[in-house]
Amino acid sequence: VLDLSALEEEARARLDPGVYDFYAGGAGHELTLADNVAAWSSLRFRPRVLRDVGAVSMETTALGTQLSLPVLVAPVAHQRMVHPEGEIAMARGTAAAGSVMVVSTRSSTALEDVPAAAGDAPRWFQLYVLRDRGWTAELVDRAREAGYGAIVLTVDTPLLGRHLREVRDGFELPADFGMANAPMSTAARAATRYDVSARIEQAPDLTFADIGWLAERSRLPVVAKGVLRGDDAVSCLDAGATAVIVSNHGGRQLDGAVATAHALPDVVDAVAGRAEVYADGGIRGGTDVLRALALGARAVLVGRPALWGLATGGAEGVRAVLDHLRAELDLAMALSGTPDLAAVGPDLLVRTVP
Ligand SMILES: Cc1cc2nc3c(=O)[nH]c(=O)nc-3n(C[C@H](O)[C@H](O)[C@H](O)COP(=O)(O)O)c2cc1C
Repeated sequence: VLDLSALEEEARARLDPGVYDFYAGGAGHELTLADNVAAWSSLRFRPRVLRDVGAVSMETTALGTQLSLPVLVAPVAHQRMVHPEGEIAMARGTAAAGSVMVVSTRSSTALEDVPAAAGDAPRWFQLYVLRDRGWTAELVDRAREAGYGAIVLTVDTPLLGRHLREVRDGFELPADFGMANAPMSTAARAATRYDVSARIEQAPDLTFADIGWLAERSRLPVVAKGVLRGDDAVSCLDAGATAVIVSNHGGRQLDGAVATAHALPDVVDAVAGRAEVYADGGIRGGTDVLRALALGARAVLVGRPALWGLATGGAEGVRAVLDHLRAELDLAMALSGTPDLAAVGPDLLVRTVP
């Protein structure tokens, strides 16, 4: 992999145009989708010199789980649309690179089948709370029994954002589509439009109290994904979350929502070291990873880049994307005089007036 935007073009050439648009697109006018990428790029470094970067180390942990690089793989729905081995290839590639995959509730492979086929590398389960809390509880129990190490509770999707590319394309999920992590109602199974099935099944009435319920039920760390404000991050932690992910769902929910690079400092400030803070959205290279870490993220997640790897090379492609990010981060750390992650802090970035 030379560059992730070139890889995206390669993936685009291989995928059905409707499928490509489903993955690449965002909500509304795609303001937030574009801002995510632009906001990281706009941050400029103040590299340090003469710091002995003969050996650079980027190993870290997330919730105590070892990571060979500070990058995790974000939960993304329906990966069999991108590659026949879908989530299993994503899991194998992620494990081979020493990272952690977050498996989506809307996975096209049953959550038990991922560890069964890809081995028991550390993995987290992303939860959409369903209208039927009994079904939700079942999903959580199954995830714990299957060995998932954390529940990533998505908090930014009470309803689905409107994705104009899908409307324009008349995009429908393939006819054999089923949410592999049944239970699901007949009506939702029959819905070939993502937004329709989501509206039927996903709970629009989530509150902070659900976090406490989930922590108790799962007996696993709960990570709140989709927080963009410091006050919300603190409320999530107060309610029982162990960590938060600063995310706007890759620009797929509220169009015009703040870019994650711009939201991260407020959240890091408010959390004040109480918990790990992660970030995702628009990370497109090793320098973006370094920027996020400099702003206080423990690690980042990548969504679309991992998908382009999956589309172009299956498990090997996913691994290649993560190895590419590793190589770019290694170089960026060396050139900024930060031989390890402890040396990465806000002083590494030029202060900009917001
Ligand atoms: C096609 C697509 C499907 C997604 N599905 C889910 C999902 O099922 N659950 C979830 O929490 N986030 C989902 N996300 C959001 C990602 O987890 C992540 O927040 C986002 O992709 C990060 O931005 P990036 O793609 O720019 O790296 C999805 C994103 C895309 C692009």
